[in-house]
Amino acid sequence: MSTNTLAIGLEGIAVAETDLSLVDGTNGLLVYRGHWARDLAIHHTFEEVAHLLWYGHLPSEQELADLQEKLKANRELPAHVKGIIDLIPADVDMMSVLRTAVSALGTPAHAWPPSLEQVIGLTAKLPTIVAHRYARLEGREPLGPRADLNHTANYLYMLKGTEPNPAHVRALDAYLILTQEHGMNASTFSGRVVSSTQSDLISAITAAIGALKGPLHGGAPSEVTEMIEAIGTKENAEPWLRAKLESGGRLMGFGHRVYKTIDPRATALRVVASELSADDPWFDLATHVEKVGLKLLEEYKPNRKLNTNVEFFAAAVMRAVGLDDSLFTPTFAVSRVVGWSAHVLEQASNNRIIRPQSNYIGSMPE
Ligand code: ACO
Repeated sequence: MSTNTLAIGLEGIAVAETDLSLVDGTNGLLVYRGHWARDLAIHHTFEEVAHLLWYGHLPSEQELADLQEKLKANRELPAHVKGIIDLIPADVDMMSVLRTAVSALGTPAHAWPPSLEQVIGLTAKLPTIVAHRYARLEGREPLGPRADLNHTANYLYMLKGTEPNPAHVRALDAYLILTQEHGMNASTFSGRVVSSTQSDLISAITAAIGALKGPLHGGAPSEVTEMIEAIGTKENAEPWLRAKLESGGRLMGFGHRVYKTIDPRATALRVVASELSADDPWFDLATHVEKVGLKLLEEYKPNRKLNTNVEFFAAAVMRAVGLDDSLFTPTFAVSRVVGWSAHVLEQASNNRIIRPQSNYIGSMPE
């Protein structure tokens, strides 16, 4: 019989050393390469933080201009990828479309080992894929990318077809920065496992998108808005949440494998969302649901240290900038592709195939 150390869910197991990020779940801290993530979200842009994660330092003016140019030059989709997106039936969810379209981007030029060129080329295209599909679903002709707009502004422009509101760009940029990187989460681990076999970047990111889609990971924010809409009124919050917990259900946007205190991204995004939603009854209800949810989790799940996670306020920010629910998880992927690809580069720099064990508990042949 095999007797390897068993760690269900790999809890507490480190599978790599990284200098990309520190996720301190006890103290609620998040650091990207020596910088507080919340400070990066306030003082820097998507492109600057991507540069930090990919190249190891914040860019000089020239380095930033070079990266922006490269991203802009790579935004267009090949015709066959647009054709594939258009062939997918309208009832297929956006994350499945994104997974398929990213997979279709693979060419021999993406072969292992991964390179910065491959990574930038791919990151530039994710917003275009999401916006292309979204326009089609809305019955609009997809808009091409605009070279005068930065990554986040161009994404909002392509999604909505109108001049992006600067306050919305800033808020979405903060969200996209705060979710670029987060240690060895399930989707990043999936990408690193694939890359550790010396498979190509596109295969690694396709796997990561599949993992992000699940409601226990990146699929939660749209379920947060569904929960708040189902609750409907402040009076209904306690009975609704209590019934959910009584039936063994989970409250979406609460709990985290690593954070046993408030998720620092939730703290930062709460501020961003509240600035945009001062008079919004939805946000007022959401903050009430948060308060009641935390109280009931303490009652039903004492000592589990369940707090609000990033997804709760991610939903609030994305809603406040006018994105509908179907865009929440794909927008998470638009940001997390930076962290995934930084991990794939890191894995390749010191690669050993990731190959854990399982313990056989079945019967033996007679
Ligand atoms: N609502 C109710 N109970 C919960 C919740 C929740 N949101 N989260 C955990 N619990 C309870 C579990 O029922 C379990 O209770 P038990 O010991 O009585 O059986 C205990 O807390 C521990 O739960 P686990 O499933 O072991 O915790 P794990 O670390 O495996 O899961 C996870 C973490 C998946 C995030 C979980 O908290 C959850 O399902 N949350 C809701 C979904 C969600 O918000 N996902 C987004 C996460 S953030 C991100 O990935 C970007």
